Amino acid sequence: MAIRKIVKHPDKGLEKKCRKVTSFGPSLHKLLDDLYDTMIDADGLGIAAPQVGVDLAVAIVDMDDEHGTLELINPEIIQTEGSSVDVEGCLSFPGIYGEVERPDLIKVRAQDRDGDVYELEVNEYFSRAIQHEVDHLNGVLFTSKVIRYIQEDELEGYGEE
Ligand code: CO
Repeated sequence: MAIRKIVKHPDKGLEKKCRKVTSFGPSLHKLLDDLYDTMIDADGLGIAAPQVGVDLAVAIVDMDDEHGTLELINPEIIQTEGSSVDVEGCLSFPGIYGEVERPDLIKVRAQDRDGDVYELEVNEYFSRAIQHEVDHLNGVLFTSKVIRYIQEDELEGYGEE
């Protein structure tokens, strides 16, 4: 396992749609483990492969709660409901925070590290973090969705993704 260098805006690699994962072997597992180490080292709640310069549809989310670490390979949001506004940050935009409106409840379909398909229905900030990472895999950055930027001193313990 290793900590990789985080790609920062305005790197063009952050705005490309990622390729689907077709091989669920050791190199994918190493990427997932490195993403985890890199996210923890940077004190993030989630991270996507393009944020370490890899254009594959791989992301993880870890809210440091009972959900544990969620590994998302080739994820797709297949259902949404409701809406909510909350503050987001991003490891590729240090010091930038803003309010983003997103669906509250989502159903996500993804594969795990062995290629098995799973579906998960989630809401609140866990749902938001997953949507933020799925956006990364489509080359969409949260700043394109910010409705109001927040100064760092207005924040109270928000995480970065
Ligand atoms: Co991000």
